Amino acid sequence: MQNDIERILLTEEEIRDRIAELGQKLTEEYKGKNPVFIGILKGVVVFFADMIRAIPIESQIDFMCVSSYGNGTESTGIINVKKDISVDIAGRHVVILEDILDTGLTLSHTIRYLQSKKPASLKICTLLDKPARRKSEVQADYIGFTIPDLFVVGYGLDFQERYRNLPYVGILKPQAYLHSKE
Ligand code: IMP
Repeated sequence: MQNDIERILLTEEEIRDRIAELGQKLTEEYKGKNPVFIGILKGVVVFFADMIRAIPIESQIDFMCVSSYGNGTESTGIINVKKDISVDIAGRHVVILEDILDTGLTLSHTIRYLQSKKPASLKICTLLDKPARRKSEVQADYIGFTIPDLFVVGYGLDFQERYRNLPYVGILKPQAYLHSKE
């Protein structure tokens, strides 16, 4: 699996340090507000687990599974809510946690959907932001790292459901794409 990685973009240490910084910001912002952290599955799981532990305040968690990608590396723009939240977020302070903000299509639909449930506030925290490919107006309030237009895997992010368990964020070798298309 490691052999398919061209180079490491973000090391475990860089990710850990940045999450500690973001955690401090969110802790200050949400102390006493009992926020609901909503993770967008599946890519967020690793970031989510580290992030909520960096915010040591009273809070709740929930998850949504929204699909926008087929089996390739391009967004289809088609959104499908596969798993909904179970917490009532009306009047609550909500923070969406996301692994990567790419075209923004997934998130803009998710935001509209969650806004209809009337939260007191709704903010977005993403580990990675790829602004070069944005197709919607959506912007994150908290960003771990802004990255160039590269397809990355690891630390929860996948290519065809592989590489999620790599502890760092890496760039795939072209061979790994080509093999998968054979
Ligand atoms: P968007 O709708 O284009 O913003 O897509 C967001 C989703 O696409 C993310 O939650 C990821 O699941 C997936 N995605 C976008 N870029 C990458 C990438 O570079 N690597 C892995 N998954 C990605």
